[in-house]
Amino acid sequence: MAAQTQSNRANEISQQTIDAYRRDGFVRVNGIISKQEAAEYRQAAIAAAAANKSNTVGDIFTQHVNIWRVDEAMRRLTFHPNVTAVARKLAEVPLRLWHDQILIKKPHNNTPTEFHQDQPYWPHNNSTHPISIWIALCDVPPERGCMTFIPGFHNRNDLAAQDLGDARSMFEMCPEMQWESRVTVPLRAGDCTFHHGRCPHQANANSTDEPRVAHAVIFVDASTTYSGTKHIVTDPLGMKAGAVLDGELFPIVGE
Ligand code: SIN
Ligand code: NI
Repeated sequence: MAAQTQSNRANEISQQTIDAYRRDGFVRVNGIISKQEAAEYRQAAIAAAAANKSNTVGDIFTQHVNIWRVDEAMRRLTFHPNVTAVARKLAEVPLRLWHDQILIKKPHNNTPTEFHQDQPYWPHNNSTHPISIWIALCDVPPERGCMTFIPGFHNRNDLAAQDLGDARSMFEMCPEMQWESRVTVPLRAGDCTFHHGRCPHQANANSTDEPRVAHAVIFVDASTTYSGTKHIVTDPLGMKAGAVLDGELFPIVGE
C-alpha cells in the first residue's frame, strides 16, 4: 500500500468551498486521495467485496456495510486523514463515524440509484450536520454511475424515506423539487463529493464493461442519539432509544 497522500487537504479547503457546501448541500473535492492510492484501494475494495458478506439492493448496487471493521486496508481509507479532516471542516461541528460502505454497481447493471435523501433511512435524533463522502475508486463518468445532486434542498427535514428503486418517489413527496436544476458530477479516480445527509441525490446506471467501485463514509454529529427505529447497523446493539450513539462502532473523528 502506498504512503498516504502527504498534503493535508483540509488546509486547502477555502471558506468559499465551505460556503458552497452550506448553500448547496454538496461539494466536489478533487484528489482527496492520490491516483496511486485510488488504484490500490480499488483493488482492496474488490478483494474485500469478494471476501465479505454483502447486501445486494435489487440490481441497484451491492453494498458492504462497516467494511472498516473487517478489512485493514479499507479501514485506512475510512479514517484517512484527508477524509476525516475535510468532513470535519465542512460540517463545522464535532463528528463521529456512523458507518462506511463499499458501493459497487456491476457492469451493465442498467439500474440507477433513484433520487433520495440519506438521513430518513437512519435511526437518528439530534443530527443536523450529517455528512457523507463518496470516493471514486475508478474513473466514474456519467455512464458508469456517477452522482447527481439537487442543490439547496438539504433543509428539507420533513420527508419520509424515499424508494431507491422508484424514480417518482422523491418527486411525489416533494413536487417542487422536480423542476430544480440538477448537478451531475463525473469523478476521476481519487476524486470525491461530500454531501449533507438530506441533500437529494441519485446515481446513474452503469452501462460500461467495468464495475463502478466507490467507497462511502458517513459521519454524523457527535451528539447524535439513537431514535429506536430499525437499521442494519444498530439492530444488533440493543441500544435504548435516546442513548447517545457512542461506543467503539461510532468513534469520534477529525478532532
Ligand atoms: C450509489 O453509489 O449508487 C448511491 C450512493 C448514495 O446514494 O449515497
Ligand atoms: Ni444516498
